[in-house]
Amino acid sequence: MSSTNRDFLTLLDFSPEELHGILDRARQLKALRKEALRHESLPGRVIGLLFEKSSTRTRVAFEAGMVQLGGHAIFLSSRDLQIGRGEPIEDTARVLSRMVDAVVVRTYSHEGLERFARHSSVPVINALSDTHHPCQLLADVVTYIEHRGSIEGRTVAWIGDGNNVCNSFIHAARCFGFFLRIASPPGHAPHPQVLAEGGERVSVTTAPRDASDGADLIVTDVWASMGQEEEQQARAETFSNYRVDQRLLDTCSPDALVMHCLPAHRGEEISAEVLDGLQSVVWDEVENRLHTQKALLEFLLRGEDSDA
Ligand code: CP
Ligand code: NVA
Repeated sequence: MSSTNRDFLTLLDFSPEELHGILDRARQLKALRKEALRHESLPGRVIGLLFEKSSTRTRVAFEAGMVQLGGHAIFLSSRDLQIGRGEPIEDTARVLSRMVDAVVVRTYSHEGLERFARHSSVPVINALSDTHHPCQLLADVVTYIEHRGSIEGRTVAWIGDGNNVCNSFIHAARCFGFFLRIASPPGHAPHPQVLAEGGERVSVTTAPRDASDGADLIVTDVWASMGQEEEQQARAETFSNYRVDQRLLDTCSPDALVMHCLPAHRGEEISAEVLDGLQSVVWDEVENRLHTQKALLEFLLRGEDSDA
């Protein structure tokens, strides 16, 4: 049984060529599924899903995807594991990696995730941390490509919080060669270190219209992420001018797409009219979580056998 010992904690862990390879493979897997052809490339392989935060899309995509590939996924809520009673991260990583072929982790602290990965002898996948959500970007980029062709040289507008998904968009701008304009309220722009990692194609403004003007894709996310629930009310005031509504969408390119990682709060960061409108591709984005995560699992678990 072949496997890599690579981790996927941020998009920068993979080369642009590797990322493009995963997206190409995701499109093949999607086509196979549309034709109802079975493709069990990971028989007998087992992954653990260690989740500290809620999830619908990410969890179901990994669980369903692993079954479709002929393997199995075990959902491990941190509330039920000994880690929830104080067993160290390092020991949990050592234990799980003696028993499963990869561990998918959704957690708060990115530093804790890195520590987990250092002590795991099997691949570790970031299923969302406070600072990155790389799996989301695999789906978002492939969704853009399916609808509009290459994303290289295109302009993406991010409206709202400089959060985990925004940070992964910054990395994606570098890996996939698109321009990213981020509009965030003062004090909510992405961390300067992550911005620096994005390179020259990434810019920041406080004015949503400066970001959206002529953009090919407009994206937003909740104003308060998981773990920031107590800030929800204050953020609703701070972010009230950072809503993706029809007026803002009208400043984008006429054929601009709209994305949101979901779950969405209609009437807050995005109007219902836009989220449910003709330019929105959020349901394709959702479906592509499945295909891209399957391609990611194949890449990490099959290693050099991946082409077979
Ligand atoms: N977009 C996303 O990651 O959704 P879940 O929180 O439902 O996994
Ligand atoms: N920024 C959001 C994304 C959810 C998928 C959060 O972290 O809660």
